[in-house]
Order: sequence, then structure tokens, then C-alpha cells
Amino acid sequence: MKKDLLSISDLTRDEIYRILETADAMREIGTRPIKKVPTLRGKTVVNLFYEPSTRTRTSFEIAEKRLSADTLNIAVSASSVQKGETLADTAMNIEAMSPDMIVIRHASSGACHLLSRICKSRIINAGDGMHEHPTQALLDAYTIRQHKPTIEGLKVAIVGDLLHSRVLRSNVLLLTKLGADVWVCGPPTLVPRGMQQLGVTVSTSVEAAIDRADVIMMLRIQQERMQGAYFPSLREYFSLFGMTSARVALAKPDVIIMHPGPMNRGVEIASDVADGPHSVILEQVANGVAVRMAVLYLLAGGVEDEVAA
Ligand code: CP
Repeated sequence: MKKDLLSISDLTRDEIYRILETADAMREIGTRPIKKVPTLRGKTVVNLFYEPSTRTRTSFEIAEKRLSADTLNIAVSASSVQKGETLADTAMNIEAMSPDMIVIRHASSGACHLLSRICKSRIINAGDGMHEHPTQALLDAYTIRQHKPTIEGLKVAIVGDLLHSRVLRSNVLLLTKLGADVWVCGPPTLVPRGMQQLGVTVSTSVEAAIDRADVIMMLRIQQERMQGAYFPSLREYFSLFGMTSARVALAKPDVIIMHPGPMNRGVEIASDVADGPHSVILEQVANGVAVRMAVLYLLAGGVEDEVAA
């Protein structure tokens, strides 16, 4: 693997499968009475989150602790960022304390690339602006593989706020690399230019996108990134694009429903679908720990046979 994980583009198909297979071993560790292995003992991991996070930050921290790394969370609200310190200066000062890895989430696309240029530490992108969220796509692929024999040939419909979604970009790169038939769907105002060039089918009809789908992945409406009005109202959005049980019935009977969270219930997804029999949303969250353990371990130079120690 490369030094850093900034984008799914950094990974070959073989490396993606290696992460997913290593995550299987990591998941087993989470079932033990003592959920800890000494694999990253002596390594220091800094979690630097400039944007709010529940799932990603918590699961990275649990993953680091399960691997016995020394974990440090920098609360940006209590750091010198509040006094105007730039990201580059913050990174150089953290780097001066010789961490082994830095996990960063930032509102600016490319923030992790800046750290990658400045730091010798390994950098993991935990979400950069509207660009990418590679560990989310990896845990999504891991979850799909738990329910489907193979990703190749599956119809995966990704529905929602395509324009602002880093989850979309990472999933499109990963799922097309693994041979899925990816459909993306949202209001015309929320479809980024050039989507077709990524090898996906673009549709503004949710019914067409989810027809006979194996996987439906809903994306959050990211009102915090919207400067203007992209659709008339949330009520109209739900009526045209919201995932209801009537719409789920258009997909294959064994369709799985995914959402990276946090969900806007009643906006992009109905509560009975989010909590219903097809939903694997909490499985995605659980798998986040194992997949992030695998990423940390492999970036640290791990060898699969050593995991079980
Ligand atoms: N899926 C995801 O990134 O969730 P958080 O924002 O809670 O980390």
C-alpha cells in the first residue's frame, strides 16, 4: 500500500480485497472477551477532526485502542485553531511530536493532501470536504460482501445529494473498480458535472435507478453545504426521491438498504425503511471498526498472519 490513504484511487483492486479480508480477522477480535491485540503497541495515532463526526471518529478511536495504539484526539474547538492557526502550521506542530499516523477530517477538499505533503506520518482521510471518504466506501463494500456473494455485477443505486457527497465519490470509485453496475440518482440540481465519465449510469428517476437493484445506498441531504435552494422543499424532495417501502418493493426482494449516517429521517429515508428488514445501516457502523482496524494495521506495514496474535 502507499504511505497514505487519501482516496480510493490510491488502492488497487487487490489492495481493496486485502483490506476487506484483513477486516474479517479484525472483526473476530471484536468478538473476544478481551477485545485487544498488541499489534500497534508503541505507535501513536492522532485523530484530528475539524468537522463533527459520530461514527468515523468513534470507530477510529475504538479501532486504534483495539490494536493497542496510543490514541490522541485533538479537539479543534479547544486547540490553537481557535486563535487562527492554519492547518499547515497545526500539522507541522503535530508532526514535530512524531506521531506515526494522523487521521484527519476537514471541511476543505484536499486538506489531507496538504498534510500528506507536509508530514512523514501516515495520513488517513476521514472525509475531506466534498471530495472523498475512503474508509466509508471500504466499510460499505465490506457490508455488501456480507450479504451478497460478490460485488461484481450487482446493481447498486446511490440516491440523494450527489453534489455534496464525499461518500458518493469514494463509493463510485470503489464499486466500479470491483465491477458493480452503479446507478446514481438525484435532482438535476444535485448531480455533479461529469458523473457519466466515472462509469456510472445517471438518472433523475428514482424508480428507474432502484428498479431490480441489489443494493440501495441513500445519501444525506447536506443542508450545511448548501448555499442556495437546490429543490423547492424537503417535503417535495421526500415525495420525489425519499426511500419509502413502496419504492423498496421495486428493487430485488433481497435488496439491502444502506445509509452512511447521519440520517435525515423523513427527508431522504422513511423511518420504517431505515429500521426495516432490508436495512443494514447499523451493520455498516459496526463494520466501520473492523475495516478501520484493517486500514490502520496495513498502513502500519502489517502482515495478515500476525493479526491473530
Ligand atoms: N458516515 C460518517 O462519516 O458519519 P460521521 O459524520 O458521524 O462520522
